[in-house]
Amino acid sequence: MSRLVVISNRVAVPKARGVAGAQGGLAGALNAALKDYGGLWFGWSGQESEDRTGNMNLQRSDGVTTATIDLSERDIDEYYNGYANSTLWPLFHYRIDLAEYENETGKGYERVNERFAESAMPLIEEEDLVWVHDYHLIPLGDRLRARGAKNRIGFFSHIPWPPTRLLTSLPFHERLVETMLAYDLIGFQTEEWLGSFFHYCETELGAEVDKETGRINHKGNTTVARAYPIGIDWDHFQSQGATDEAKAAEKRLLESLRNRTGMIGVDRLDYSKGLPERIDGIGRFFDQHPERTRDLIFIQIAPPSREDVESYQQIRAELEQKTGQINGARSQVDIVPIRYVNQGYSHAELYGFFRASKIGMVTPLRDGMNLVAKEYVAAQDPEDPGVLLLSDFAGAALQLACDGKGALIVNPHSPDALSRAIQTALDMSLDERKSRYEAMIGTVRDDNVQNWTKNFCDDLAGVSL
Ligand code: F6P
Repeated sequence: MSRLVVISNRVAVPKARGVAGAQGGLAGALNAALKDYGGLWFGWSGQESEDRTGNMNLQRSDGVTTATIDLSERDIDEYYNGYANSTLWPLFHYRIDLAEYENETGKGYERVNERFAESAMPLIEEEDLVWVHDYHLIPLGDRLRARGAKNRIGFFSHIPWPPTRLLTSLPFHERLVETMLAYDLIGFQTEEWLGSFFHYCETELGAEVDKETGRINHKGNTTVARAYPIGIDWDHFQSQGATDEAKAAEKRLLESLRNRTGMIGVDRLDYSKGLPERIDGIGRFFDQHPERTRDLIFIQIAPPSREDVESYQQIRAELEQKTGQINGARSQVDIVPIRYVNQGYSHAELYGFFRASKIGMVTPLRDGMNLVAKEYVAAQDPEDPGVLLLSDFAGAALQLACDGKGALIVNPHSPDALSRAIQTALDMSLDERKSRYEAMIGTVRDDNVQNWTKNFCDDLAGVSL
């Protein structure tokens, strides 16, 4: 088996050197993938330094070597806060209103991709499979090729791919997407994002696309693109769920609820997650059912994210204002209907919190996949499972809707739809909860991160160069 070299913006470094910690599902998923393959994980340390000597921090743990570089203040500003998170992220999440198109940040993005190529190249051996992740590093494969890499190089997009007419609002969009065709294999979370990518390649690049095989021919080069829905690390999550830490977390939350129904949401504090819209839905529910204010407690865990980006500061302020408004209007001296928490928790604690909550709310406005939805289901007691409320606009809905027999699929933009879904979940019989849980649990358990890795890497190894 070839060695696997993973390259992503963030790396889950063992015993992080004061790094804020890799958040989001990607870092956890890649950790699991690399443990199976052994190999190397290269990326940004999350640290800022002006050191340009190319110094790299190498660590080895659990059979995985991590290699990280620091970035300068300017690089972080233009590449991470700028082009990646103020241009591509909003645009790819259909928020063209929030996307900033600045030449300087675009140049910074290209410069840092070049720097990643320069630093990663000496680490890559001839037979390695190279797997690049996410929107921060779209041009990296092309840059590695320019430095002579002959390896099989794959790319995985963890976020949505926007419809063509949105993407064409990006200056130099052709250049960006053409660099993507330097990869041998490109993976998307869902058939929907894959379809949008094919459409762009056909209509904007004039490429020849075979949708059956996923082959894209363009300027004498062939790339294959397919959908590979990511899953959770089932075994690891269950082992976390069996710990005393998980049991203590479940007990702690249950005791604090004092026989009320707990409803939980766990999301990075990001506008794509639909948090203010979710609070509006809960406010509508309390308006329509004031008698239930004493029965239901909503716990929103929202660790802050990308705090140097203005749109993230705005969404946080909006969320705090809406939460404060509802709590001010609906609280009693002994009851606060919304618990809003800005800190992150371990997997064990989340398992316990999910199990203690009879409703899981996962209502992003747009999401590549959303692993919280799968973790919520994975943590449920099969004899008394909770109900998952899931946005129609999360990639996970394609797997968890189960023809109307799995998650309750909701429109996150409609407060009335959210309010109705909360009521349906609260009133649902045990039999129906069990049957919905049973419809979902097979895909959550079996379509796990190990299979995702295997499917992608097997295809990458088999793609003819
Ligand atoms: O999956 C999308 C993603 O952007 C990952 O690339 C990233 O690790 C995660 O969300 C969290 O975002 P950030 O690395 O900006 O904290």
